[in-house]
This record gives sequence, structure tokens and C-alpha cells, in this order.
Amino acid sequence: MERGQFSSKIGFIMAAAGAAVGLGNIWGFPTQVASNGGAAFVLVYLILAFCLAYPALMAEMIVGRSARANAVKALPELTDKPILKQFGRLVGLTGLLTVAVILSFYAIIAGWLFSFSLAPIASLVVDSHWLTDFSLERNIIFTLLFMVATILIIAQGVSSGIERWSKRMMPALIAILLLLIAYMLTLPGAMKGLTHYLVPDFSLVFKGGLIISALGQAFFSLSLGVGCMLIYGSYLSSKENIVKVGAWVTLIDVGLAFIAGLLIIPVMYIAAHHGVEIFDKQGALINGDTLIFNVLPALFEQMGDIGQFVAFLFFLLMSLAGLTSSISLLEVPVAYVVESHGVARKKASWVIGGLITLLSLTIVFNFDWLFGLVIMVTTQYSQPVLGLFFCLFAGWVWHRDHALAEIKKGYPEAEQSLFWKIWPWYVRFVCPVFIIVMFINALIGS
Ligand code: TRP
Repeated sequence: MERGQFSSKIGFIMAAAGAAVGLGNIWGFPTQVASNGGAAFVLVYLILAFCLAYPALMAEMIVGRSARANAVKALPELTDKPILKQFGRLVGLTGLLTVAVILSFYAIIAGWLFSFSLAPIASLVVDSHWLTDFSLERNIIFTLLFMVATILIIAQGVSSGIERWSKRMMPALIAILLLLIAYMLTLPGAMKGLTHYLVPDFSLVFKGGLIISALGQAFFSLSLGVGCMLIYGSYLSSKENIVKVGAWVTLIDVGLAFIAGLLIIPVMYIAAHHGVEIFDKQGALINGDTLIFNVLPALFEQMGDIGQFVAFLFFLLMSLAGLTSSISLLEVPVAYVVESHGVARKKASWVIGGLITLLSLTIVFNFDWLFGLVIMVTTQYSQPVLGLFFCLFAGWVWHRDHALAEIKKGYPEAEQSLFWKIWPWYVRFVCPVFIIVMFINALIGS
């Protein structure tokens, strides 16, 4: 069977940036900024994203393009030693499982955002509270809707599904984001928010948990550790300069997180100006779901008719960001079933998508104890540990010369480049040591 491939460089960048840019950027990043002391977090995040997450991203992309296969097949191929082959398979399979669980909670959140985007339109004709109130029925229906949209795109394949839809949704997302910022920054209160966002209080940098949160956020945002970027890399043409393309994806991801912060943090202060409560009992900025689903709607409500339009645009933005990411999540297990078990893509998409939907519904029915738990286990434990193993495989198990040969395909001068002087050391030493230290620190701290 012929493997899918992205048809152009820009197609790849849109798809991979689409995978990276998601709720993690537009919701996760700004709310982490809010709860970790503003600009200090921004600073640490920027450093970690470029110095640690980018090398890890490259490790996945290069291995994927070289193997032209999913992670479960690709990691064992890096070595001849049977025991390491077994271990590589295990890492790949754990990645599949992790990605399935991530998609199952991601679809629930994205479903909420989707229902919130429909509410302003529905309210023109009917009472739309059902769409914005937390209920079992609403959660079930919108999780299902979002999963079906994800499955429909993935069933269409790499270039006519993932690439085509990412090329449509990403520009729309960027346009909406910039439009909203331009409007919001004209409102009273915005400048105070901007200051909180951009002027760091350095004393907060080493406050417990800040660096850990920033690292976790960077790994989640760049979609690392589960073979997601590995499979996207496997669809990238050998002609392309993978070092540069990967840098673009990182830049767009980090850039859009930063820009989303320019929207969300000032909006909180605008809300405060309107009398909406934005600080919790401890005096910290409200974050997480309370921010998105209570503070923001309260603000939009106060803004009158234009507020309804802004609300529609805002939640549409979030839904689009969610969809370009959810397809990348579903692609990981689907690619595995298609490649390693010879199942047709359409069938694989519906069956795997269906199973993940069941998992989602299980979470919906056991929301109180399960939702937070699966988020914590996958993003704080599985992802960093798996990310560590991906780095170890790329840096220690894989022969250096093979990695270089792969990079050189689209970048003949690679051997003399700054990238090649630094990257091998990074994936061998800096990334693993850093991840281990952070992880132990997190275990002790919690
Ligand atoms: N990075 C996306 C976001 O920021 C989510 C995502 C897509 C993801 N694919 C992933 C997270 C793979 C972890 C692993 O919302």
C-alpha cells in the first residue's frame, strides 16, 4: 500500500503547526501564565521551548522521516539489539495508549468550546442556556459531534484530509486571533493586563513548580512524546530541509501561544474593569475552566450585541484550534493500525475513533474523579517519560551517522551547520538530564 505524504512544504508546516497549536496554546498557555505570576512564566517558557522542546521535536521528526513508519515500527528499526527492539516497541505502544487517552479528554473540552461557539447564534432564536450549562446530555452530544468531525477528516487521509483541512483552518485561526486582539486592546483595562503579561517579576522564576509547569506545557504544546510528530515527520518529503521546517513549526507554535496570551491576559483585566471577579481567594488570577467558561462569557455578556459576535468568534477560534490538533492525535493510532495491521484507512479511522469515543464517554459519565486524573497522568507523567525515551533512542540507540544522513537528504550542508554541532549533544545529554531532574523534582514536590 502506498504511504501518504504531505504534498508541499507549506502543507506540512500548516499541518504540523496545526497539530501543535491547539487548546494548549490558546487556553493552556495563557492560563498557566495567569497562575504562575505572569511574565516570569513567559520568559522561562520561551527558553525551554527553544532549548529543550525544539531538539526533542527534531528527534521525533528525523526518526519518523528516516523510518517512514509509525513509532511502534520506527523505534525498533533504530537498532539491531533484540532487547532494545522490544523496548522500542513498548515505548511506541505506550505512546499509542497515551495519545488515545489524551484525545479522549481533549474531545470533551473541544466539545464544550464548540457548544459555546454555537450559543451566540442559537440565542438569536431560542434560549441557548442548554448549550452553555454543564450537563451530561450536552457533554455527550458535543463530545460525539467533535469526535465525528475528527474521524471524518482522518478518514480522508494525509494530503486530502489532514493537509487540506489544516490549510483551511490555520489561516482562519490566525486571522480571528489577530482581529480579536486588535479589538480587545482598544478597551479600557487592557493595558494593565498587558503589563502583567510582559513585565517579568524575576523573583518568581524559581518559585516551586514554575519551571516544571513550563516544561510540561512546552511538551504538550509541541505534541511531543507520543509519536505524533514522528508520524507527521514520516509523511514529510525527503527533499525538504527538516531542520528548518521543524524550526518553523516551533516558531509558529510558540509564537501563537505568545500571541494568544496577548489576547487572554488583557481580556481578563478588561473583565475586571467591567466588574467581573478575576482574582480567587488567594489573590491569584482565576485560571483554567473558570476563566474560559465563566469570566469570558460574563465579559461578552456585558459588551452587548458586539459581545455576542466576539463570543462567537472567540469560541470558533478555540474550536478550530482544537480540531487541527485532535486530528493529529487520532492519526497516531490510525496510522499504526493501517501500517502494521493492514486495515483500510476508512475502517481504521471509524473503529479506532469509535473506541476512543467510548473512552471519552466513560470519562463524561465519571467526570468528577476521572477527568482531572487522566489529564494529570498523561500530561505530567506519560508524556515527559516517553519524551525522555524518544530522546534516548534518537541520541544513544540510533547511530549518529544515520541521523546525519537523514538530515542531509534535504540539507546537504548539514554537517557544518550549527544545528549539527549542537543537536546531537542536546538529545544525548541536555534533554534527558533535564527531563529526569524535572521529573524527580515533580515527584518529590507533589
Ligand atoms: N499540542 C496540542 C495543543 O497544544 C495538543 C496535541 C496535539 C497533543 N497532538 C498532541 C498533545 C500529541 C500531546 C501529544 O493543544
